Amino acid sequence: MLGKHTRLFKILFVIIFIKVFILLVLLCVNSSDIHRVSRGRTSKFINDLLIDRRQEPNLEERLKLIREEMPSFPLEELLRRPRSVMPNQCGEAPDFMNIVYHNEYWQELQIQNTSFYFFGAYYDDRKTVPKTPLVRLLTMINLYGSEGEVDYPIVYCQLWYKNQVEPLIVEAIDHKIVWIWGGASRRFFPTLISCPLPKPKGGKAEVPEMVSLVADRCDRAKNLLRVVHELPEPSEVQQSKSARRFMVCVKAMDFPYTDMSWRVIEWLEVLRMLGVDKVVFYDAQMHPNMTRVINDYKTNEPHFVELRPMSLGRGEPHSPRHFHHYAMSADGFNRILNEMIPYNDCFYRNMYKYDYVGIFDIDEVIMPLHNVTNWNDLIELGYRVPDYERDSKGCSDWASFCFRNAYFPRYPDRPKVFKQLPSYYYMLQHVERTAEHCDRYSAAKCLHSTKYAVGLHNHFPLYRAKTGECEPKSIPIEYAQLQHYREPDNKTRLINPVTDDNIWRFQPQLQQRVYAKYEKLGFLPNITQMQEAEEQRILDDEQKLREAISLT
Ligand SMILES: *[C@@H]1O[C@H](CO)[C@@H](O)[C@H](O)[C@H]1NC(C)=O
Ligand SMILES: *[C@@H]1O[C@H](CO)[C@@H](O)[C@H](O)[C@H]1NC(C)=O
Ligand SMILES: *[C@@H]1O[C@H](CO)[C@@H](O)[C@H](O)[C@H]1NC(C)=O
Ligand SMILES: *[C@@H]1O[C@H](CO)[C@@H](O)[C@H](O)[C@H]1NC(C)=O
Ligand SMILES: *[C@@H]1O[C@H](CO)[C@@H](O)[C@H](O)[C@H]1NC(C)=O
Repeated sequence: MLGKHTRLFKILFVIIFIKVFILLVLLCVNSSDIHRVSRGRTSKFINDLLIDRRQEPNLEERLKLIREEMPSFPLEELLRRPRSVMPNQCGEAPDFMNIVYHNEYWQELQIQNTSFYFFGAYYDDRKTVPKTPLVRLLTMINLYGSEGEVDYPIVYCQLWYKNQVEPLIVEAIDHKIVWIWGGASRRFFPTLISCPLPKPKGGKAEVPEMVSLVADRCDRAKNLLRVVHELPEPSEVQQSKSARRFMVCVKAMDFPYTDMSWRVIEWLEVLRMLGVDKVVFYDAQMHPNMTRVINDYKTNEPHFVELRPMSLGRGEPHSPRHFHHYAMSADGFNRILNEMIPYNDCFYRNMYKYDYVGIFDIDEVIMPLHNVTNWNDLIELGYRVPDYERDSKGCSDWASFCFRNAYFPRYPDRPKVFKQLPSYYYMLQHVERTAEHCDRYSAAKCLHSTKYAVGLHNHFPLYRAKTGECEPKSIPIEYAQLQHYREPDNKTRLINPVTDDNIWRFQPQLQQRVYAKYEKLGFLPNITQMQEAEEQRILDDEQKLREAISLT
């Protein structure tokens, strides 16, 4: 009995074993089928993923990337510095582990209760500017007051030259606060500090590579900044003496939720037609579509559009973008004080490459009128015509040419002026402006001469050379105006607008160029698809109706 059962179990066991084996084999075959993709008849075995197979960048390439990420930190220069056999007598060179960073792009110096945050250092040897050559430091400091009123702690500059072990040490002079309308506690103020350099005895002065700021002459510094000295590339040299070069600087782009991408395209193309050679944006947080637009320009025309890193000087973290947007709006005064940093960084980086600099928002355009259609001719005209209300006889040059503001509001309830033109050409479609221009001070914008500007606010130069140039000239509105595509603060001004279609002088090129960008970047809806969807919707509705009728 027992033996019989055992044999039966054995047979049963073998049968189960065979079944399980067959099942496993089948499963294996099936699962290997999962890795096969069949297209038509051919069936290919895929052994590869779409991953990046490029080689890791070498150190040189990485240094270039780091330079773009942290423009003011001179890592390359630091790494190739000559090492001294003996430690420096005075002012030992900072090494990598000695640096104190602040909010990614800044470095700091604390002297008792005064904090200095450094954003950039720039070499200034302009002949038209007094006390040059010098290195200027763009700094945020927690001190405010007029000259002589504030006691700045003494600070020394240690200037590091190429292939020299010992620094040149000078006392920092000159604290120019790029803000003249009063201070407040807990804020940091944009301030330009100077490190005066010895005047060269004939020939050119040597340009220091790096600079550190210290409280005592011989301190080992905890900060190290690249001294920016960017001369024009051959492509950036002006073709002729009469062809001036123009640059536009834009503050940190803070548009996380509103899609202004399409407006930027039209704005950039207008500027290009007016003769602008370069537009520099600073990055805060942008809608992904806007990032796409800026990146497209940046990648394809790096000589035309630049996007630079930026963070708030007081230290509010900028990478969490929703937070950063909040931080920028939480304290308007803090935000405005910080706006002086991109303006002046942009100016000092580029002052040798361009003749005039404009500081604008993306809703502002300086528009020459009548037969003048570019900024070069506008400057030419600016020299000839009188100031609109002041005597400027006896002047041969001006720090800036300024243009009075005219609002071009949205007027959402007024009918389209150009019925045949799509609304997605914003400026071409918005050709109604407030009847009155603002006065010379309110919301005016200027083209600043790089020969004379020293400290720039978004409307006027707060500091200028004063070596022969006159104060900014306000150009009469017969010749040009600042077109400001926003709502006026004073709503009474909205009444009785006038038609002003000066921008149509740039047709049809402007429309073509904007359209080409819209098309390239996929802004234009697919009309065939929209029509098909519409037809389908009608068919569906009819079907529903028929069903409803048959039910009743
Ligand atoms: C630092 O302290 C000095 C002396 O107590 C004072 O005069 C100065 O205003 C303080 N500065 C700041 C930034 O708090
Ligand atoms: C515009 O017209 C004026 C007056 O006719 C003339 O003097 C000037 O040269 C013209 N400007 C340009 C840029 O054509
Ligand atoms: C607003 O604008 C109107 C029309 O230009 C002007 O008469 C009025 O004084 C302005 N109001 C203020 C508060 O500036
Ligand atoms: C703009 O953003 C919206 C929302 O994310 C998206 O649907 C659209 O495709 C974007 N447009 C372009 C041109 O990328
Ligand atoms: C638009 O959509 C249609 C239908 O889906 C498609 O055949 C066509 O290729 C699309 N056109 C473009 C430019 O994407």
